[in-house]
Amino acid sequence: MKIMVINGSPKGSDSNTMRLTRAFLDGIGESEVREITVATSKIAGCKGCFCCWNKTPGKCVISDDMQYVIDSEVWADVIIWSFPLYYFSVPGGLKNLIDRQLPMNLPFMTDRTDGKGSGSHPSRFDMSQKRHIVISTCGFYSAEKNYDSVKLLFDHMCGENYDIIMCGQGELFRVPELKSRTDEYLDIVRRAGEEFANGKIKEETREELSQLLYPKEVFEKMADASWGISEDGEGKTDETLSFTRQMAALYNKAAYDGKERVVEIVYTDKGKTYQIVLGKEKSEVFEGNDLIPTTRIETPWEVWLSIARDEIRGDEALMKGLYKVTGDFDLMIRWDEFFGSLSGNKEKNKASVQTQEKKKPSMAVLLIPWIVFWIAVSVNGQTGTVITLFVCCTMPLLAFRRKMTIYDAVTFCVVGILSAAAQLSGYTEVFVILGYLGFGLMWLLSCLTREPLCAAYVKYNYNGEDALKNPIFMKANYILAAAWGILYVIISIVTFFLYKNHLQIVSTVINNAAPILMGVFTAWFERWYPASVAAGKVK
Ligand SMILES: Cc1cc2nc3c(=O)[nH]c(=O)nc-3n(C[C@H](O)[C@H](O)[C@H](O)COP(=O)(O)O)c2cc1C
Repeated sequence: MKIMVINGSPKGSDSNTMRLTRAFLDGIGESEVREITVATSKIAGCKGCFCCWNKTPGKCVISDDMQYVIDSEVWADVIIWSFPLYYFSVPGGLKNLIDRQLPMNLPFMTDRTDGKGSGSHPSRFDMSQKRHIVISTCGFYSAEKNYDSVKLLFDHMCGENYDIIMCGQGELFRVPELKSRTDEYLDIVRRAGEEFANGKIKEETREELSQLLYPKEVFEKMADASWGISEDGEGKTDETLSFTRQMAALYNKAAYDGKERVVEIVYTDKGKTYQIVLGKEKSEVFEGNDLIPTTRIETPWEVWLSIARDEIRGDEALMKGLYKVTGDFDLMIRWDEFFGSLSGNKEKNKASVQTQEKKKPSMAVLLIPWIVFWIAVSVNGQTGTVITLFVCCTMPLLAFRRKMTIYDAVTFCVVGILSAAAQLSGYTEVFVILGYLGFGLMWLLSCLTREPLCAAYVKYNYNGEDALKNPIFMKANYILAAAWGILYVIISIVTFFLYKNHLQIVSTVINNAAPILMGVFTAWFERWYPASVAAGKVK
């Protein structure tokens, strides 16, 4: 496919719109591309002399880059018109280029039969098979109702033969801190390119392209703050203030849970402190520290910027001690919910919620066979082993709604084998002790893998697979898995000695009390450890 791209942005290669156009070309794939950048080309305004119609037919009296444009339009199969919306129309340079297409027409009057106007001039070239695509960004929150003139212009120029992608909030494409959201949009544009190459852009894709990048009020608050000027339009505001305001604008009020939060952010190297109040209806930024903060973040300015730009993960920076958090750490865990990429794409949000709701494993599926084994076999060796075997066989069926982990599978096999061996040999006490040892070793060995046992279950409460990239989450889980492993290895040794000395009752007390205490420790540690790392108290 031969493609001609006309980049009509006065910003040339730095154009927001060209980011969409490049994604679209990416989607089209293998093709021959000629690109003309109006801003860096010599294309003068039309003189209106009509020489290209009478004195030098098909040739303009002005000798500049326009001849190359016309040759390329004739050469191409697809013409991409890429430009920003300027005063509800095309930028001036591009309008010059459009006017200078006059030599492409013959002067004769013909009727227009498609209802687009009262008259027409026949084309000097056969342009009937050319496909045009208009790609444009604009600065308002939505493209809706701003493109009337553009659409009319292209209706006249191309008739039915063009497609259009228009996107509001265009300036966001150059904001590194919002890349995760704008990249989502560029992915849809890429898909549109792919579909265009295969015939035409699908309706669903068109629908997705028309979704807002951010909701109107979020975008407008962010856009207003981005100029970094005071409300009277005269003075400059500090860059830290305008950045903090933009961050606050991203507040997702749906995350409000009845508790008003005050996030205090201290840019340690800039000597600036701001407080963001996260309320039921909105967020508000205040300078200074007059309110009592619920969460306090102390960070060098550059570190905070790097995190916002996804150059470094927030949790990783925290682990490395690059910034500190004190107070309510829950906000940090739920950060994405409060300030994350507020996708305007509702369908996608729905889809991601559905993905989150997909099957999750349950620790109960793992624990029940072990607990049944220890209790039932201790109470009655013969019947206990049969009950345990029954549980091991039926558990996978009963838990069909749950995702099965490798540790569930190991449990069913190991507990099943231990029960069968206890049943056949009659040495139930030996196998109960081996059970404790096996359970402990399973936890310990999981520490040698990339996903310690508890992480395989708990990660679903912390963004699923993404949690495995979170060093704080991982370290906490390795520590907990090791602690549980060591506890059960110790329990197996203690039980061995207690059984040897016929102190079964003592063993029952210890074997039940120890995991309860360990459970309490786990619940406390899960909260304490991340908060202590965040406060810089623990490495
Ligand atoms: C002179 C001028 C006029 C503009 N007129 C409009 C407009 O009428 N409507 C609109 O939504 N955005 C308008 N904008 C904003 C641009 O369309 C927007 O910033 C666009 O994303 C720039 O794209 P580019 O980087 O590809 O040039 C205007 C910008 C400038 C500089």
